[in-house]
Amino acid sequence: MPDYVIRLYKDSDYEVVRDIFSRGIKEHTKTAFFHTLSLPHIWALLLAVFLALLQTTGSYLLSTMVVSLSVAGLWLTNRHVYGTYVADSLATDMMNICKYYLQRDGYCFWVAELAGEVVGMVAAIPPNSPTGENQVELKRLSVPTKHRGKGIAKALCSTVIDYARKRGSSAVVLSTSLSQYDASKLYLKMGFRRTTTAYAPFTFAKFIDFRTLFYQYDIPVQR
Ligand SMILES: CC(C)(COP(=O)(O)OP(=O)(O)OC[C@H]1O[C@@H](n2cnc3c(N)ncnc32)[C@H](O)[C@@H]1OP(=O)(O)O)[C@@H](O)C(=O)NCCC(=O)NCCS
Repeated sequence: MPDYVIRLYKDSDYEVVRDIFSRGIKEHTKTAFFHTLSLPHIWALLLAVFLALLQTTGSYLLSTMVVSLSVAGLWLTNRHVYGTYVADSLATDMMNICKYYLQRDGYCFWVAELAGEVVGMVAAIPPNSPTGENQVELKRLSVPTKHRGKGIAKALCSTVIDYARKRGSSAVVLSTSLSQYDASKLYLKMGFRRTTTAYAPFTFAKFIDFRTLFYQYDIPVQR
């Protein structure tokens, strides 16, 4: 039996929930950065910059410094992407969680609690797409590092699936980024299927291969 309970969000969870969310997103900066660095065209570009500078200036020091600065720029770009996403979320739906999620039909927010401590969170909203009628979108799923691997995220996912089923929805949909490997494994394990992949909507997304993955869990029709 799990020793945590899943309950509705309440205002006293506010700070901890925002903190869990922020950390859970920003931790992917490192993975995304190493993914960017593994791309052949990035290697080719860095090498070309190094050789061009070496040829024109004759300075190994200058060439190395410029390449190092370019690598730092790639780190900052990835950090900016996740940082901006967090800042936007904290300033919109995560600003007044009770009002946004608990006072509107089709919206909900749950937390997992273990011995009085919030150890996970997840939200449900109506999808913002013309094809999203009669579907539920799973959002804001996060479990703090020290509580991972205990099945908390699976239980939170199941909570959203049950919620969708009770509302008579046909599917639960969600999106995540390519670098959120654990999340993708979890969704596949839960029976979601990947429906599509798209470059994130910002300049350089294609250059640094920053992709958004879309998943769907089809709810069987009840007879
Ligand atoms: C993704 C996340 C929510 C998983 O939380 P969790 O509580 O550790 O997940 P669970 O213990 O419920 O694991 C469920 C399944 O996911 C998979 N999984 C989760 N973490 C994994 C890992 N590190 N390696 C391999 N598989 C993993 C496993 O299949 C696991 O099932 P199993 O234990 O029966 O094999 C957590 O890593 C997290 O909060 N990450 C940061 C925020 C994030 O990326 N959220 C997703 C937003 S789209």
